[in-house]
Amino acid sequence: IAIAEEQMQSKPTISDSSKMESITDILHQLFHTAICAAFPDITDPPVVIAVAASNPKFGDYQCNSAMPIANIYKQSARNLAQKILDNLPSHPMVEKCEIAGPGFINIFLNRDYAVKKLQAIFQNGVQPPTVERKKIIIDFSSPNIAKEMHVGHLRSTIIGETIARLLEFLNFEVHRINHIGDWGTQFGMLIAHLQDRFPDHLEKMPPISDLQSFYKEAKERFDEDEEFKKRAYDSVVKLQSFEPKHIKAWKLICDVSRKEFQKIYDRLDITLKERGESFYQTRTEKIVKELEEAGFLENDDGRKIMWGDESTTVPFTIVKSDGGFTYDSSDMAAIKHRLQEEKADWVIYVVDSGQATHFQILFACAKKAGILDPKKHRVDFVGFGVVLGEDKKKFKTRSGDSIRLVDLLDKGLEKALDKLKEKGRDKVRVLTPDELKRAQESVAYGCIKYADLSHNRNHEYIFSFDKMLEDKGNTAVYLLYAFTRIRSIARTANFTPEKIKELSKKENISLEHEKEWKLGKVLLRFPDEILKTLNDLYPHHICEYVYEIATTFTEFYDSCYCVEKDSSGDIVKVNYGRILLAEATAMIMEKCFHILGLKPVEKM
Ligand code: ARG
Repeated sequence: IAIAEEQMQSKPTISDSSKMESITDILHQLFHTAICAAFPDITDPPVVIAVAASNPKFGDYQCNSAMPIANIYKQSARNLAQKILDNLPSHPMVEKCEIAGPGFINIFLNRDYAVKKLQAIFQNGVQPPTVERKKIIIDFSSPNIAKEMHVGHLRSTIIGETIARLLEFLNFEVHRINHIGDWGTQFGMLIAHLQDRFPDHLEKMPPISDLQSFYKEAKERFDEDEEFKKRAYDSVVKLQSFEPKHIKAWKLICDVSRKEFQKIYDRLDITLKERGESFYQTRTEKIVKELEEAGFLENDDGRKIMWGDESTTVPFTIVKSDGGFTYDSSDMAAIKHRLQEEKADWVIYVVDSGQATHFQILFACAKKAGILDPKKHRVDFVGFGVVLGEDKKKFKTRSGDSIRLVDLLDKGLEKALDKLKEKGRDKVRVLTPDELKRAQESVAYGCIKYADLSHNRNHEYIFSFDKMLEDKGNTAVYLLYAFTRIRSIARTANFTPEKIKELSKKENISLEHEKEWKLGKVLLRFPDEILKTLNDLYPHHICEYVYEIATTFTEFYDSCYCVEKDSSGDIVKVNYGRILLAEATAMIMEKCFHILGLKPVEKM
């Protein structure tokens, strides 16, 4: 749910020849101008722009505004379409427009314009569309200390990383925050148990390698032993008032978890700055006082609660009856820190959909308390569905335990290697051991990330190595192979990246053939796809787009030769315009891969 009333809309740039522009934004602007001029008495006219269906005679884009306007004026839509065209400003991007059927306006793009925009890639690289710079805090991954980091956290980690990469590509100031659960009541029993098991822990690092079983032991004692339970409670109080010995014990426990988390982050190439719940302790004390003084808190059977607005039906618990703080109160302190101290313009929370209500209340309470100003700030809850096993039940091991992420990644590596062997890629002539290892990691981690990202994040998805490692369909394996093949086209013709750059100064990308033009148009949609994803934060748009690039490329390659060889394998003819088109395709795919966290390899 995006609650900011004023969503950040990208502002179309006026023709800047050095980069690709959003075609729909430009068309929107042009037709907005035309419709306003043609029908000055309509305020806020409907401007409907769409990509045209694949038949070339319908043009490349369409404006479908004449029909809704015809409903207002009770006139023929074809006549109104003509009126719109009479008022349409000229633009180098638009070659011509035609009226068709009941009043569709078919828009044909100018091919020289298209060539020029794609050609710019070789000089400047794949550049992002221009957007107003904002400071953004993105809260993702956020596992809990001592409890396991589960597949839900893996989803948050993968989706969050991709959104962060997208925002960084657009040149926003991005802060990636790991809101680790490092301050809950569970620390009382962990510390008390640590004191008993390792009385010398303050002098000597205790040899705890498996924090999960340590947690289990502590929990068992907590549930059974009244005296232990009492000590656990005392420990929390001492910890939260920063008693040095307790802080030291707490740090020890956090360090063990932190090392485990870091292993996962390193393997998946994830960057995060840790700022856990403990960071907000003193700020929570402060905000609770402020909320109390402002009269926002209500006494409910000893608890202090705060209500959001009419849209929410449950209150936040700001202070528990024993005086302790909660997940709710630390999130209130955190949102205040982010918007007021850090002065972020936009805060994004990537958390499972089970917490949707929590964030709805958080945003409502923050608005009520004057922390969140919808005119100034944008806040998004980026939710996602649960991960299921192949039996469509909650993802667990056969014995019913939850799956450790390290084991999952190891399994991925194993399966990826099997796949490569199945294709005979382990033979020395094909790949060296080093290349094989790189391919293995690229496939394993790539397929896990891609399977997650390519599904609409709102839905649950079924985790299946067999599905994600298929080499047909919209999978990482298919795309990584497609990419390697495209890159090898230029290589067989002996073109290095430097030579391509040189070539692009003399030769133009070829967009004459029907299939060349079809591919070129898909590539030109890059800025639009990026902006669409920026707007709604659904990474699967980028997956669908990069898959469309790969399949459209195959269509092009099937009917257009790039390098012609004779029967002995010698090159007899090179079509330079097509080599450039293939290279532009690879460069745009590579940018999408980077955003999705896929690491293509030159050979696989
Ligand atoms: N640690 C929480 C969990 O595992 C997620 C925290 C999300 N971020 C936040 N600001 N509440 O469920």
